[in-house]
Amino acid sequence: MKSVLEFRARKGQAPISMVSAYTHWEARFLAESPVDCVLVGDSLATVLDGEPTTFAATPEIMARHTAAVARGLGEPGQRKLIVADFPFLAARRGLAAAVDTAALLLRAGAQAVKIEGIDGHADVIAHLVESGVPVMGHLGLTPQAVHALGGYKVQGKNPVAADALLRQARALEAAGAFGLVLECVPEALGREITAAIGVPTIGIGAGAGCDGQVLVMADLLGLTSGHRPRFVREFAPAGAAARAGLAAFHAATVERSFPGAAESY
Ligand code: KIV
Repeated sequence: MKSVLEFRARKGQAPISMVSAYTHWEARFLAESPVDCVLVGDSLATVLDGEPTTFAATPEIMARHTAAVARGLGEPGQRKLIVADFPFLAARRGLAAAVDTAALLLRAGAQAVKIEGIDGHADVIAHLVESGVPVMGHLGLTPQAVHALGGYKVQGKNPVAADALLRQARALEAAGAFGLVLECVPEALGREITAAIGVPTIGIGAGAGCDGQVLVMADLLGLTSGHRPRFVREFAPAGAAARAGLAAFHAATVERSFPGAAESY
């Protein structure tokens, strides 16, 4: 999938797979994979840097990682759709600042940006869309609002909260968003929102009723350690392979079987 037009056209057709990745080497794997599209997520602050929140991601950091991912995915025009995250508070500094952030991310190689929430910055989203910048929404558990939400918790569990998310999803579509991520909401609400709007929903902890699914690459490969959210499935045991590889390198160094003749000059 190379464009937001292809992304939108998949609604009601085939499910969309999306992977959140931050580095050139991850992008090389993704380029060779059938995965549809790539998100340069601000989760890089937690996954790569070990931060407790995503707040440390800045527009400049997001642009640097977007450029690395774009280079890994191949030539412009040939590469998969890249969506880059608007980082912490970047949509809350007014239209001019939002335009500057979008320009940084699109110049770095993204074709679209993802913005968490909508209440209070619907005008920013509409302005970017009118300016030719495709915007993806992100509702439910929005990590940039972790303190307001009281932690990384499932959202939309009661009727009032569910109605608010449905209203926000409709507002995002009305503002011109080409799709939206739904994070950590009950399966039934994921289905309801997906049926209520005309653009694809991409779920992460939002059940099988969404139009697609997204996971962080390090999570789905089993490369992360510590608490694993319930929505993560380990699709390949790359973490176990990495641990075995490191132990083998250490042992070969200690017993002087590495480097061998073929690895020496
Ligand atoms: O930052 C990110 O990687 C994300 C996905 C987990 C949806 O927003």
